Amino acid sequence: MVKICCIGAGYVGGPTMAVIALNCPSIEVVVVDISVTRISAWNSDQLPIYEPGLNEVVKQCKGRNLFFSTDIEKHVSEADIIFVSVNTPTKTRGLGAGKAADLTYWESAARMIADVSKSNKIVVEKSTVPVKTAEAIERILTHNSKGIKYQILSNPEFLAEGTAIQDLFKPDRVLIGGRETPDGLKAIQALKDVYAHWVPEDRIITTNLWSAELSKLAANAFLAQRISSVNAMSALCEATGADVSQVSHAVGKDSRIGPKFLNASVGFGGSCFQKDILNLVYICECNGLAEVANYWKQVIKVNDYQKNRFVNRVVSSMFNTVSGKKIGIMGFAFKKDTGDTRETPAIDVCKGLLGDKARLSIYDPQATADQIQRDLTMNKFDWDHPIHLQPMSPTGVKQVSIAWDAYEASKDAHALCILTEWDEFKTLDYRRIFDNMQKPAFVFDGRNVVNVEMLRDIGFIVYSIGKPLDPWLKNMPAVA
Ligand code: NAI
Repeated sequence: MVKICCIGAGYVGGPTMAVIALNCPSIEVVVVDISVTRISAWNSDQLPIYEPGLNEVVKQCKGRNLFFSTDIEKHVSEADIIFVSVNTPTKTRGLGAGKAADLTYWESAARMIADVSKSNKIVVEKSTVPVKTAEAIERILTHNSKGIKYQILSNPEFLAEGTAIQDLFKPDRVLIGGRETPDGLKAIQALKDVYAHWVPEDRIITTNLWSAELSKLAANAFLAQRISSVNAMSALCEATGADVSQVSHAVGKDSRIGPKFLNASVGFGGSCFQKDILNLVYICECNGLAEVANYWKQVIKVNDYQKNRFVNRVVSSMFNTVSGKKIGIMGFAFKKDTGDTRETPAIDVCKGLLGDKARLSIYDPQATADQIQRDLTMNKFDWDHPIHLQPMSPTGVKQVSIAWDAYEASKDAHALCILTEWDEFKTLDYRRIFDNMQKPAFVFDGRNVVNVEMLRDIGFIVYSIGKPLDPWLKNMPAVA
């Protein structure tokens, strides 16, 4: 029986291994992690992450050929194929701080593999890593090899949170990069055989190691760039009276462009986009490609601009001050159908409003109160470390309360800010919400989910990203 061990039981390791286990009953899959609480949660009925369809998949194979364990060394030493899916945070100190990937966790996993292995291994990079990481890992493994042979493969993960299970069952492509040597090709084939249990052959792409590593960074940079492009247009739409949804629709009809990822919003978030672009920028700079680095940097700058612009709209619309005013925050996760709050634009928007002394009442259907408070107190990039190594949040932010539902969050509020596109925000009883708010009552829709006309008929002053401005907002000071 082929044995797979995956180091890292997070958003990537957990779902990917569950789908492999379900589709490959003849393979034993063990997911290991240094975080005892994470592994206990995987072994309980309350999984550590929320992802539609994940529960059902895990239920079918947990205890059959899918296991979660903290006994890392035992399972690594027994495995034929080892996936490494640990955190790759942005460095906060030293060389490359604020941009380069911090490979501390990766390196320690590689050293541990070298320490405990007694048989040949295929080591698979599942984490997103800088180009040429495989070479560094190869060196660590071979310098400590005791005669054991290692093959390193790059198999970046393209799943999107919120649709991870769907994406894993029907991936657009599976990418496997490896050495173009007889042993390298054999390793590529071994991993291909795993995916071939359910992925059609023509969707499994094989490349050299460096192309696979770079493709992941490139794919995320392209996706984020589309969002920044449409968000840049949204500012121009507001200035000219164009409607960004109409522009996106017209642009997306061009088959060379396509309709996906063209929704204007308060900004992109999630654990990957910013981190991967910063990493790409750093690699460009290290290779002397300043123009290329600046080009990609701009994608992040526009994202930051969009978040600032939103905060400025809120404050300037409300007589240039939100001091002491209650603002209901609808949604905190970085997108719908996930509880993940890593790099969510809600953090910067909330911090911006708190900076202007607002009182916030935050409601999100999935993000926990503890997580929200941590996010609002943590330093930039600290979130991307194993949970037990993250700084404890001392006390929550005083001006922030967490609400049970949208109605509680909006009660007596002066304004609502919709920051995640949860479906339930489309069908709230806005008449009831309006009646319980201070007047004038504002809605700032950062995801363009509400029916603007209906809300204006009720009496709200509504701001929607990239849409013709409410007459109220037209008379307010211009926003930067
Ligand atoms: P995560 O933070 O949810 O999970 C990483 C896990 O690794 C944590 O549970 C941590 O405790 C564990 N870990 C760290 N060092 C360890 C060690 N030495 N031994 C055992 N366990 C260790 O992170 P996530 O989101 O799963 O991401 C993992 C990698 O995959 C990152 O490189 C990320 O950039 C990449 N990625 C993430 C995607 C996403 O949508 N979240 C999509 C595609 C790639």
